[in-house]
Amino acid sequence: MVEQYPNEPATVPSSVRLGSLDVDTYLRDPTLKQAFVTPMFDVIAPRYDAFTRLFSFGMDVAWKREAIAAVVRGAANAQAALDLACGTGDLAVAIARALPAVHVTAVDASAQMIVAADMRLVDAARDADVSLRIRTTIGDMTALNLPDASMDVVMAGYGVRNVPDATRAVREMARVLRPGGVLVTLDFYRPAFSPWRALLLWYLSLAGNAVGWLWHRDPVVYGYIARSIEHFMSWQAFSALLEREGFHVQRVTRHLGGGIALHEARRNT
Ligand SMILES: C[S@@+](CC[C@H](N)C(=O)[O-])C[C@H]1O[C@@H](n2cnc3c(N)ncnc32)[C@H](O)[C@@H]1O
Repeated sequence: MVEQYPNEPATVPSSVRLGSLDVDTYLRDPTLKQAFVTPMFDVIAPRYDAFTRLFSFGMDVAWKREAIAAVVRGAANAQAALDLACGTGDLAVAIARALPAVHVTAVDASAQMIVAADMRLVDAARDADVSLRIRTTIGDMTALNLPDASMDVVMAGYGVRNVPDATRAVREMARVLRPGGVLVTLDFYRPAFSPWRALLLWYLSLAGNAVGWLWHRDPVVYGYIARSIEHFMSWQAFSALLEREGFHVQRVTRHLGGGIALHEARRNT
């Protein structure tokens, strides 16, 4: 089911080609970032799953499996879970499959991602027990239309890096989680070791630009990943942000020399 949020994030008009915009200007300025990010994800939504598998040489599947294992470890009896920046809904479906009593709210700013998530739910409808426990909705993870302390679990897969204000997103996570609730985030981070950072960003930029050009004739739609990491924080800085905003970080699993991290945290009681 799709619901429209009153505070739907701003976007650039569809007549504007994303490649004609200076991506760094948009990423640097929190008042502009969302206007670039949402239409970009609208463009790539239909091929997003294929891209992430190709781009990560299949590693994304293993990282997401680890994320679901973290949710199960932390909240096996959860009733209410929130999948922020849900994209095409693979984590939402995986949470519903892993936790038989849970109802999942899956939120994304991109209407086309929500369309893709709903198509996944139609496919999953063979397993009605799963699809009936998932509700999709267009929304902004920095201004959620959800009550305080209403969730046992909050998950965000590659979400925080894409919002204009990571602190606001973390505050919303803390607000909607009940005390003692579990937060699991998976994302790319800016590696602290500069030679490795340069190499990783070089690969991500080269591969992203190539696939963006081949699939969409617009290199920026995937070249964006490297740019967004360059403008983002390290996994250590994200741990510190969580601790400042009312979480206790219990475990951080790192991959790709700190370029990928899975944070498991609990909302302070
Ligand atoms: C890289 S995708 C991640 C999708 C999915 N969670 C996954 O793990 O594959 C990032 C998602 O963040 C969404 N997003 C960006 N800004 C957002 C915001 N302010 N609120 C909610 N979702 C947002 C995008 O539309 C996009 O679907």
